[in-house]
Amino acid sequence: MTQPKILAVKNVTVSFDGFTVLDNLNFSMNYGELRFLIGPNGAGKTTFLDIITSKTKPTRGEVIFDKTVNISHLPEHKIVQQGIGRKFQTPAIFSSLTVYENLEAAISFREWSIQLFRWLSPSNRERITETLELVGLQERADVRAGALSHGEKQWLEIGMLLIQKPKLLLLDEPVAGMTRRERNRTGELLQNIAKNYSVLVVEHDMEFVRSFAKTVTVLHTGKVLCEGTMEQIQRDPRVVEVYLGRAHGEARPPKHERVSVPTQRVGRMPMPALAS
Ligand SMILES: Nc1ncnc2c1ncn2[C@@H]1O[C@H](COP(=O)(O)OP(=O)(O)O)[C@@H](O)[C@H]1O
Ligand SMILES: [Mg+2]
Repeated sequence: MTQPKILAVKNVTVSFDGFTVLDNLNFSMNYGELRFLIGPNGAGKTTFLDIITSKTKPTRGEVIFDKTVNISHLPEHKIVQQGIGRKFQTPAIFSSLTVYENLEAAISFREWSIQLFRWLSPSNRERITETLELVGLQERADVRAGALSHGEKQWLEIGMLLIQKPKLLLLDEPVAGMTRRERNRTGELLQNIAKNYSVLVVEHDMEFVRSFAKTVTVLHTGKVLCEGTMEQIQRDPRVVEVYLGRAHGEARPPKHERVSVPTQRVGRMPMPALAS
């Protein structure tokens, strides 16, 4: 019996001015899965997330979310209401508010309340406490978000998404610019989150993926090149070729991808310790 899917992307093609970015793509994820999506720059990873969040509409194909909802033609703002939370590379937090207040505000987004500082119900206060613990910021609750480290800001934003109780969490390169210690903390955090949520992580940092991924999908030229465990992926000659090819004649990342955070590994992804 096939398992029910939180997400099923069916025959999705995306073309910009005749250039095909996603090419008849099929992809699915089970409920409760932590999936990593990797691929060289320009493979179509961010466009793929744009399709799931309806930021970009597919030229062809459809996206079925939570078994029944065809989200490919919903307006972008309806996607959050459907239960999809997305974290972009630059954190969207309120710098002048404390960590606690940021989480408070995030509860209001979901509840469509425009009052930021209304009375908090005991259950909401409990949710904030639980979220602070989950993302490891309980000691930082009263610190202004602007004063947090780069890693802490990312964790806060993940907390702000989680507090809205999404059914599916999408993260675009969550460890870009992080220290090794922060990356490890993030990996553990993702594994913890995945106990209760379905999570799709787009990632460039191979070392990180190797340490924390169970199931990996490799995207190349807008198609799924292969899918499997990290071990299977590393042994696949097609993956080796794609990455070794990149390691030699590395092109610059697409313009819109050159973000300001220091991204040590972006654009350079030798596959470490390839199985022989
Ligand atoms: N809005 C757009 N208009 C034209 N081309 C685009 C647009 N968005 C992405 N592309 C192109 O699509 C390809 C895939 O981009 P992207 O999804 O950002 O890849 P990745 O995230 O894997 O690096 C790139 O060649 C990029 O230049
Ligand atoms: Mg990208």
